[in-house]
Amino acid sequence: MGQHVTHTVNLQDHEDAARAVLDDGAWAYFSGGAADEITLGRNQQAWQQWALAPRVLQNLRGGHTHCQLLGQTWPFPLLVAPMALQRWAHPDGEAAMALAAASQQCGMVLSHQTSTDLHTVAQLTRQMALQGTERGPLWFQLYAHGDRGALAELVQQVEAAGYEALVLTVDAPVSGARDRERRHAAARPAHIHAVHAQPPAVASAIGLCQGLANSAPTWDDVTWLQSRTRLPILLKGITHPLDAKQAAQLALAGLIVSNHGGRTLDTMPATAELLPRVADAVQGEMTLLVDGGIRRGTDIFKALALGADAVLVGRPCVYGLAHAGAQGVAHVLRLLRDEFEIALALSGCATPEAITRHHLFGNTP
Ligand code: FNR
Ligand code: LAC
Repeated sequence: MGQHVTHTVNLQDHEDAARAVLDDGAWAYFSGGAADEITLGRNQQAWQQWALAPRVLQNLRGGHTHCQLLGQTWPFPLLVAPMALQRWAHPDGEAAMALAAASQQCGMVLSHQTSTDLHTVAQLTRQMALQGTERGPLWFQLYAHGDRGALAELVQQVEAAGYEALVLTVDAPVSGARDRERRHAAARPAHIHAVHAQPPAVASAIGLCQGLANSAPTWDDVTWLQSRTRLPILLKGITHPLDAKQAAQLALAGLIVSNHGGRTLDTMPATAELLPRVADAVQGEMTLLVDGGIRRGTDIFKALALGADAVLVGRPCVYGLAHAGAQGVAHVLRLLRDEFEIALALSGCATPEAITRHHLFGNTP
């Protein structure tokens, strides 16, 4: 009788749609992880394995989803993670990603390896704000290997363009062992490339110690970057409590607990397992974010319960982009927002600040 209609109702639907439109090479790059992809799988499972412990009959009047990041208030505790080469997923690439993030009042972290000019992305975000939409934060991610002169110049451009913080990624001094990607070597179209960065030389296992690893950044590079910018700096890829403490001593603005979406060192724990340890180490002294495997509004709720101020979401945004451009990303972010609001209300929390570890089963007093 009636026509069969399939509705896109969750992030898995966007992922399935993306798989259908991307070729094998692009799919391997965007969806893949390092080696046996143990960490990649574990990231998602670890959020699922935490069970919720809702409170009932709470007063939810005057509720909101605002969060505080780097001393400023933002509409939602949700940002698009930095991801390289988004024009490979969809011709509109980072421009569509930024428009979608701003339209959904979510943040955007532009990758050092963006395939779209950083000024274009900043301008689009500003235009959305001028039209009256309350937007999320706009941050720029950096890799600190390589030439300091070029990096200092890039930082100047980033500041002048209006980015509000620098995210220094510290967990990828060399590329991970990406089996899936290597099966589809040279699949990327030549016209899509990193416009502000030299793509890191291909790191062969042999000679790595003489090559790329020689330019691997150290804590000295972090203090150098601090001396070169007025912007707050967050370190992305912190997982060890001792590294978190060292970062706190340097008076850095924030940390992002991340294992690079399982794309660097395989068999690391999931970020849901690492987050509480890092949160205990920094004791609320720094802005704390987390990413990896977040696919549901309940996952955002759990991240906040374990000590994060906000989360970043990676692959699902790229899947939305591949599936339906800016509209696809906007829908992905909207789904996460709505699910997060439902999780808040059903757990008896009027605001994100009301979420505690006691809202997780097993942590209940
Ligand atoms: C990434 N990630 C990443 N991180 C970064 O700091 N700079 C980058 O350029 C990239 N590039 C990149 C490309 C692709 C295709 C993916 C999937 C990921 C890591 C990213 O910021 C984030 O840490 C993870 O993607 C989070 O995990 P989920 O949400 O993808 O599970
Ligand atoms: C990646 C690099 C670009 O994960 O960070 O693909």
